[in-house]
Order: sequence, then structure tokens, then C-alpha cells
Amino acid sequence: MKIVSIVGARPQFIKAAAVSRELRKHHKELLVHTGQHYDYAMSGVFFDGLEIPAPDFNLGVGSGTHGAQTGAMLRTVEEVVIQEKPDWVLIYGDTNSTLAGALAASKLHIPVVHVEAGLRSFNRRMPEEVNRVIADHLSALLLCPSSTAITNLEAEGITKGVHLVGDVMLDVLNWAKERSAPKAPETLNRLGLKKNGYLMATVHRSENTDDPHRLLNILSAFNTLEEPVLFPAHPRFRKVLAESGHQLKSHIKLIEPLGYFDMVTLTHSARLVLTDSGGLQKEAYWLGVPCVTLRDETEWVETVESGWNKLAGFDRDAIVETIRTFTPPSKRPALYGEGCVSAKCVALLK
Ligand code: UD1
Repeated sequence: MKIVSIVGARPQFIKAAAVSRELRKHHKELLVHTGQHYDYAMSGVFFDGLEIPAPDFNLGVGSGTHGAQTGAMLRTVEEVVIQEKPDWVLIYGDTNSTLAGALAASKLHIPVVHVEAGLRSFNRRMPEEVNRVIADHLSALLLCPSSTAITNLEAEGITKGVHLVGDVMLDVLNWAKERSAPKAPETLNRLGLKKNGYLMATVHRSENTDDPHRLLNILSAFNTLEEPVLFPAHPRFRKVLAESGHQLKSHIKLIEPLGYFDMVTLTHSARLVLTDSGGLQKEAYWLGVPCVTLRDETEWVETVESGWNKLAGFDRDAIVETIRTFTPPSKRPALYGEGCVSAKCVALLK
């Protein structure tokens, strides 16, 4: 079969690292990079490091408002789908690239397979939530990471083509963990960090970066902490930080976005993770690192139920208090499958 896969943003490159490898063993895959993320540190480094096949189509869409960005992708993805006439269009997650892929394919009557289907935050102010809902309603095959995702879909009347497969990010993490482990001491040395002697932080969601009140609260919580914070900054965060004029204290080490192997190593060695990212909440869990999530809700509710992830919102005192007092439970049950998820996804395409 011929499959056109759509990627465009950092977490999608990571997922494609596992799925593309498996897909190409059995089928012809054409990889489309929309260009939503375009800096080397946000895109190229993943293709090089994770051995992802070079994209067959680079759409070069770049940044813009949601409408402009999604519209430009819709037009260009449609051209590829018309030209290639694939048997399936495969989309990942919840970004604007996901939405454009789902719309372009379904209007051309090409069945859509959605990897990471059924997740909900129940917060429609998040652009990702809008993208997920639409993508799921337009998909013929919905590959879910958890039974919660299946229940969410049922509640919206989606029951056909729904399968529980687990999370493809676990495949990539398992692969990368083995490869990066020997270099851990060197990586920590390079950054002057000690194992379990620092926090790993990331902030990029528009609900945090684009709301001055929330941003100030989060920055002021970080400034109050008494331990080193390693902060690989997403370009959106850097931009708003510069515009806001806020200063970060010297225990916060603001660095460029990390490649995947370094990110895995440095997350694994951190005492705790502080994040508003979806992927990092799961990676922290799988690596056995407690996570404080800088949001009011999460799609990854199982990590919270397990006691390894706490939602601290954006209140300065709540964030600081949660970081200081967090003691995770001794048990950490397997969540989102036990690996080999990509093979299950590809088998279901038949
Ligand atoms: C997107 C996804 C989000 C995902 C995240 C991972 C949507 C709606 N959101 O958010 O679900 O978790 O990717 O990172 O699709 N920028 C650069 N260089 C780059 C990429 C972006 O400077 O390589 C800047 C853009 O100019 C823009 C900002 O970062 O101002 C945000 O980029 P955008 O494409 O809107 O998505 P993300 O916020 O990264």
C-alpha cells in the first residue's frame, strides 16, 4: 500500500522515527514535512539523530497565525495527496499539521489514520484540543494510547475503527535510552550538572507563554527555587521572554532546544521535571522521574492517577510548594503499552 504521512512539529518527528521505520518494512511511505517547525534545533536535529528518512516533500509553510499556517498547509498537503493518490494518509497527535492532513485527505475521500487518537483535555481554548477533536471525527482508523482515549471517543459517538495500541513514543524512548546511556556522564559534565541535582524545565504552550500573568507567575516560581534548573527553551518562549523584559536568576540555565538523545539523558538524570509539554509528562513517567505539570488539566490523566505527575497550574506558590514536597509513590505500573506499538499500528493498516 502507499501511505502519505504528515509531520511538521517536533513531537511528530519523534513519533515518526518509530512508525516510519516499521511502515517502510511493509509498505511504500511518502513523508511530508509541512515546515511548521523549521529551525535546525526544532527539526533537522531529529531527522539526523533519530535516523528518520528524509522527507519526500518539504512544504516550507513556516510560522503564522493558526488560520494562515493551517490554510497554507491545507493547500499544499492537498496538492501532494492529489498527485500521489495514497491508500492512507497518516497523521500524528494534535498540531496544526495534523489538522491540515485530516482535512485535506478526508475531502479527497482518502482514509485517515490518526496515531494518538482520543486524547482530550476538555479545554477548547487550547488549539491542540480543537485539532484533536476534528482529526478524530475525520479519521477512519483511530489508534489510541490508553483506554481513557477509547472512552473519550465513545462519548463523542466514535466507535468504529478504534483500537487500543499504546503509545509509539515509548518505542522511541526505549530505543534512545539504550543508545544514550553510555554518554550520560559526559553530557552532564558538559553542562556542569550532577545526577539528581537539578530540575528539567520546558514551557511552550501558548496558554502559558501568551498570557503575561501566567508567564510572570511561572517565571517567578522558577526564580524562587533553590536548585539548578536546566531550561531548553522553545523559540516561542525565548521570544516572549525577551519581549517581556523579565530576568531569570542565575540558577536557571537557559539553553537552546536539545536533540532527542540529550533530552532523554538529561530528563533521566533530573530530580524532577517541570513542564507544560504532553510528551515530556509521559517520558518523565517512563523514566521514573516525578513531574510537575504547569497546566490545570492534562490529557495524560493516568500519570496523575499513578501519583507521579502533579498538576500545579500557574500559581507561583502552588508550583514552588509542589516541587518542594513531591514524594512519588514506590509503585510505577506500566502505562501506555509495553513497547512495539509501531508494529501494532502498521499491522492494523491492513
Ligand atoms: C506546536 C503544536 C503543539 C506541540 C508543539 C511542540 C500546534 C497548534 N501546536 O506548538 O501541539 O506540542 O508544536 O513543540 O500545532 N518557531 C520558531 N522556530 C521553529 C518553530 C517555531 O521560531 O522551528 C516559533 C514560531 O515562529 C512561532 C512559535 O515558535 O511563533 C510557535 O510555533 P507553532 O508552529 O505555532 O507551534 P508550537 O507552539 O511549537
